[in-house]
Amino acid sequence: MMSAVALVCIWVCGLFSQPGSAVGSSRPRLAGKLVTENFAGLQFEEAYTSLFGDENVKVAEDGKTVMLSLDKRTGSGLLSQDMYLYGLFSASMKLPDDYTAGVVAAFYTSNGDMFPGTHDELDFEFLGNIRGKEWRIQTNVYGNGSTAYGREERYTLWFDPTEDFHQYTILWTEKSTVFFVDDVPIREIPRTDAMGAHYPGKPMSVYATVWDGSDWATKGGRYRVNYKYSPFVVTLANLILEGCAVDPLEQFPAVSCSADTTSSASLSKLAELSEDQKALMEWFRGKYISYSYCDDAVRYPSNPSDCPPRDPHKKIATAHVKFGHHQRHHKKNRKSRRSSSSSAASATVSL
Ligand SMILES: *[C@@H]1O[C@H](CO)[C@@H](O)[C@H](O)[C@H]1NC(C)=O
Repeated sequence: MMSAVALVCIWVCGLFSQPGSAVGSSRPRLAGKLVTENFAGLQFEEAYTSLFGDENVKVAEDGKTVMLSLDKRTGSGLLSQDMYLYGLFSASMKLPDDYTAGVVAAFYTSNGDMFPGTHDELDFEFLGNIRGKEWRIQTNVYGNGSTAYGREERYTLWFDPTEDFHQYTILWTEKSTVFFVDDVPIREIPRTDAMGAHYPGKPMSVYATVWDGSDWATKGGRYRVNYKYSPFVVTLANLILEGCAVDPLEQFPAVSCSADTTSSASLSKLAELSEDQKALMEWFRGKYISYSYCDDAVRYPSNPSDCPPRDPHKKIATAHVKFGHHQRHHKKNRKSRRSSSSSAASATVSL
């Protein structure tokens, strides 16, 4: 483990200290456009509301930093006040350290409460680990209720997400969706004809949660949450919600966004990756992917239509994959919205 971490550090330091690359040693920066830099972090009160575990949702004095905790009593979660049809959703997050097996944190968009059978979802999920092993993150995409067809990818990171804040961003546009970590694009999902309604296309809310995923999160449930180490605190800051807020009860009419920056066209432009961004994404994907649905011949015997042809020699952890349904948030009655919990199929890879 030590040597792997050391190697990564050496590699990153080597790459990013080369002349001409405008990046620091531990936090890669892009030379060109940064997707989050032009947006201001919001006050919690103007952007979000508590979703569940109210007693475990703490807003700091600055009004912008929020602590979500999981303890023996409950996990906790946030929900955006508005629903959006496309947007840039971002949060700077610091994850709990030490022993976090079974702990799951998530930053995601969903409309499971409005469209239970045909819901859309875009996820960042953070999976805790036993002491000395790093958190893993995964991204996932669901469209039109196709939970049977999750498009999971799982990664390790080039930094320790418990040591400092890092910015996690979901950029969802009409033409493509891009996931970013510290403005490094890590995954791009172009909207293709083949995807059809599997590309998320209905208004979604934004969520952040921390909860007990004992049954599946760490080695398929072998390591459960140990509350001796609680509370497990996830801290969020620099909350960015830039998009076209819509009333989901209207039949999503053509929305006119008040600000230019949040218009569909501006967002789509932001999602057009430059050559620099593409190169950085390739770097990340070449190094840090530990699981991809595209390579999972056990789960998807025939190659999914949005995947490149399979390389039979590629070594990817697909053995011992275990699927479980998990509840990531609890019911909460809110205005006209119907409350429900969304569940999603999740793959747990034993390595
Ligand atoms: C979405 O799923 C529903 C239920 O399975 C289906 O009836 C509908 O045709 C789908 N929508 C599209 C646009 O494919």
